[in-house]
Amino acid sequence: MPILVTGGAGFIGSAFVHAWCTQSPEPIVTLDLLTYAGNLDNLATLPAAAPHRFVRGDVRDPGTVRHLLDEVQPRAVVHFAAETHVDRSIKGADAFVSTNVGGTACLLQACTDHLSDRSPAERRRFRFVHVSTDEVFGSLGPDEPAFHRASHYRPNSPYAASKAAADHLVRAWHVTHGLPTITTHCSNNYGPRQFPEKLIPLCIARATAGETIPIYGDGCQVRDWLHVDDHCTALRAVLDRGVPGSTYLVGGHGECANIDLVRSLCGALDEARPTGAPHASLIRFVTDRPGHDRRYAIDASSTRDELGWVPRHSLTDGLRETVRWYLANEVWLERIRSGAYASWVREQYGP
Ligand code: NAD
Ligand code: DAU
Repeated sequence: MPILVTGGAGFIGSAFVHAWCTQSPEPIVTLDLLTYAGNLDNLATLPAAAPHRFVRGDVRDPGTVRHLLDEVQPRAVVHFAAETHVDRSIKGADAFVSTNVGGTACLLQACTDHLSDRSPAERRRFRFVHVSTDEVFGSLGPDEPAFHRASHYRPNSPYAASKAAADHLVRAWHVTHGLPTITTHCSNNYGPRQFPEKLIPLCIARATAGETIPIYGDGCQVRDWLHVDDHCTALRAVLDRGVPGSTYLVGGHGECANIDLVRSLCGALDEARPTGAPHASLIRFVTDRPGHDRRYAIDASSTRDELGWVPRHSLTDGLRETVRWYLANEVWLERIRSGAYASWVREQYGP
């Protein structure tokens, strides 16, 4: 039976589609609106015979979603579609509330209505996997224990608040309507095909163009970096063995301060593409992000114990491999940089 993914033309969604098509004969259908962050180039390298179908559409449109569910009859929905960039949510939150909250509510209701027409066995088997974030738990002090399943919600950015609201809707649809939902909270993903507004591809894109690398504040904010392929194997485990109504944390054992991460990236660039001066000479400390969370860390022990999942990529190797991917795919990057993305960069970082 097919599965349906929303946001499958984005960074993580497309990695999930790629992994799915190499590992499973089951058909997979992508529903994606192709916002500025959605990119059909991300799906262009799927093998011609891959059992994948792309549908352009909006998760906020009940008619589109219900029609697709009835047509595809999926055994699961994996919900990636969202507005995802914290800086954009600070400039304007409307799209975040509309897509992340309204879109999730629309999908939940459409799945509930759709399942009422399916057999009891199909209803029991169905899964709605909601891809959330660690940011809903707020910010940790340097010595505080990592986020875990019972951590309190303390979202600090409009993006995180919109994802938190979506998480609560998912929980409510499970409790009230019996929808078999599972929510995952992962840390910062990195890897191929990430839109170059996020720190790692932004640094690579700017450094290779000889542009400055902007580090917010003192650069000592800590993130836990998770390779996107490890995230996809975790989602697969959640889909196969996760318990409806549960939540799972997914992290990469990759805690690193931004400045250290960027210096490592610059080192990897120096190795792969030496220039006259070290790439780190392009680093500039710039005005901090308002409400900037200081530290995220993930305790994924319950995911390991219950699902047998552990991350496989080390941050050092993963970063090197990621740098190599962007250098080998400059056309991918250029097609984005020459479009609407350029005006966002001008607005955010100046000419
Ligand atoms: P992304 O910004 O790269 O892609 C988002 C995708 O959603 C795009 O293809 C876009 O076109 C699509 N989309 C947006 N609005 C839509 C709508 N109304 N209808 C249909 N499609 C729509 O995002 P990503 O980084 O791949 O993140 C995927 C999910 O994972 C998000 O829910 C995000 O909150 C979550 N997440 C991401 C990270 C990370 O580090 N990237 C970490 C934790 C959680
Ligand atoms: O933790 C999971 C979250 O990770 C996801 O839910 C979000 O969708 C995803 O965007 C990401 O959020 P971050 O804000 O952590 O990612 P970003 O790449 O924007 O920033 C990473 C860190 O780098 C953060 O501390 C801010 C800093 N930064 C970012 C940019 C874009 C800079 O110092 N300079 C920059 O120019």
